[in-house]
Amino acid sequence: MTARRIAVGVTGASGAIYAVRTIAALLEAGCELEVVFSDYGKRLLLDELGPDAKVERLKELLASRYGAGVERGRFVMHSNKDLGATLASGSHRCESMVIVPCSMKTLAGVALGLSRSLIERAADVMLKEQRRLILVPRETPMSLPALRHQVAAAEAGAMILPAMPAFYQQPKTIDDLADFIAGKILNALGFEQQLFPPWKG
Ligand SMILES: Cc1cc2nc3c(=O)[nH]c(=O)nc-3n(C[C@H](O)[C@H](O)[C@H](O)COP(=O)(O)O)c2cc1C
Repeated sequence: MTARRIAVGVTGASGAIYAVRTIAALLEAGCELEVVFSDYGKRLLLDELGPDAKVERLKELLASRYGAGVERGRFVMHSNKDLGATLASGSHRCESMVIVPCSMKTLAGVALGLSRSLIERAADVMLKEQRRLILVPRETPMSLPALRHQVAAAEAGAMILPAMPAFYQQPKTIDDLADFIAGKILNALGFEQQLFPPWKG
C-alpha cells in the first residue's frame, strides 16, 4: 500500500508542541510528510521547546521526544520561500495539508488567497483542488478580522480546528494536551488514533 502524502505547515503562533506532536503522530502512522516552517514557526519552536529544538535537527528531536516509532514514516523539509517546490502545484499528489499552529497572519493569507509563501500557496492549492485543508489557529482574544478570515477559509473548504484542548479526558501534563490536539487532527485526516481515550458517555 502506498503511504499517504500529507503537507504540514508550521507558523509562528504559540503551540509549537502541537506541531511536533502532529508530525510525530503522522510519521508513526507511516505517512510521507512534506514539512514547511515559516521563519516565526522556527523561532517559536526554539522559544517554546528549548535550544535543542532546531528545525535542522527535527528528526532527532522527534525521536528523542516520541521514540523510534517516528521512523515508520518519512519527511522532507521545504523552504517557505520556495514557491517552486512540489507543494506549489496542484499536479503534485499531496492529498491533504494541516497548518499547525496557524498564525492570524497566515490565516489571513490563506483566507484571502495571497500565496505569499510556500505555506500559503500550498494551502491555496488544497482549496483549489478541493483537497483536505486543516487550519489550527491560535490566538486570544480574536480580532474581528481574524474571526472573519476563519469564516472565509471555512467557506472556501478549509476545516477550522482551533488549538483548544478539552479537559474531559483529565489531562495531567502538557503532553496530554498536545496529544489531544494531534489526535483531533489525525481524526480529521481519517486516521484511527489512540492519542487520547475516546469519550464513552
Ligand atoms: C513569542 C511569540 C508568540 C506569538 N504568538 C502568536 C499567536 O499565538 N498567534 C498569532 O497569530 N501570532 C502570534 N505571534 C505573532 C506571529 O509570530 C507573527 O504575526 C508572524 O508574523 C507570523 O508569521 P507566520 O505566519 O509567517 O509564521 C507570536 C509571536 C511571538 C514572537
